[in-house]
Amino acid sequence: MLELAYINDSFIPLEKASVPINDRGYLFADGIYEVIITCNSILFGLDEHLNRLQRSADAISLELPASLDEISKIIETGIKKAGFSESMVYIQITRGVAPRRHNYSTGIQATLVMTFRARPEYAPELFNQGVAIITVPEIRWSRCDIKSTALLPNVMMKQKATDKGCQEALFVTADKIVHECTTANIFIVKNDILYTPPADRQILNGITRSFILEQAERHNIGCVEKECYYDELCQADEVFITSSTIDLMPVVKIDDFIINTGQPGPISLRVRNFFPTRT
Ligand SMILES: Cc1ncc(COP(=O)(O)O)c(C=O)c1O
Repeated sequence: MLELAYINDSFIPLEKASVPINDRGYLFADGIYEVIITCNSILFGLDEHLNRLQRSADAISLELPASLDEISKIIETGIKKAGFSESMVYIQITRGVAPRRHNYSTGIQATLVMTFRARPEYAPELFNQGVAIITVPEIRWSRCDIKSTALLPNVMMKQKATDKGCQEALFVTADKIVHECTTANIFIVKNDILYTPPADRQILNGITRSFILEQAERHNIGCVEKECYYDELCQADEVFITSSTIDLMPVVKIDDFIINTGQPGPISLRVRNFFPTRT
């Protein structure tokens, strides 16, 4: 097993991989990314992740340096070469290497980088007992639907949560409208119905979020995509957060508020069972 990178059309050990200083991803965060994990050796939501990659690319007028089919084949090869029992694939595509200038010319070749690592493990008690999160002012830009590498506000706020011993930081506007966490979407459960903020430009439309909405409908659990307010969050029966790497993690404390009994609730546990069992 070897942590592997794919760069400039070849695979090399991750620690030997580097990109030029003039890469616009490095200089301007002028790039997009995806993270895909395997579950029982199958890439979870591959098509959805690749389609979002294409959407993010289109949204910043970035021409992908390879077709989605080609990218998919590189992913399969990288996973086999790296040899982990379960993998986490990171894909980053930047506008490419050019002398530093904010505007760009159309001629430059986009940089495609991938890394292949073991899927991260989380302590079982995070799922069994639930986690604490904090709320933070919404300081991010107004196109959070693009899975862009411009993640400084997310980095700052995730660190703030970590410093406070919390798992996540939840972006909330001055009007107390709840958006999403720095690396995850949020769901509220009230009277057995799931509520989550709409997939507009204020949040990243999580592949996991969409999977849960689809599964909930299939299992006759009511779901509503609507603007959610901080007060509703604090008075929720249950709250949980979702992303590709965590699936679903129950939230039992937000700032100083204990959610309901302070234990993961039955709907969160039920919805978590919709995911393929992790081995
Ligand atoms: C800001 C943000 N929101 C939501 C998500 C969840 O997206 P997905 O379920 O596609 O992993 C992520 C994942 O990285 C994220 O960074």
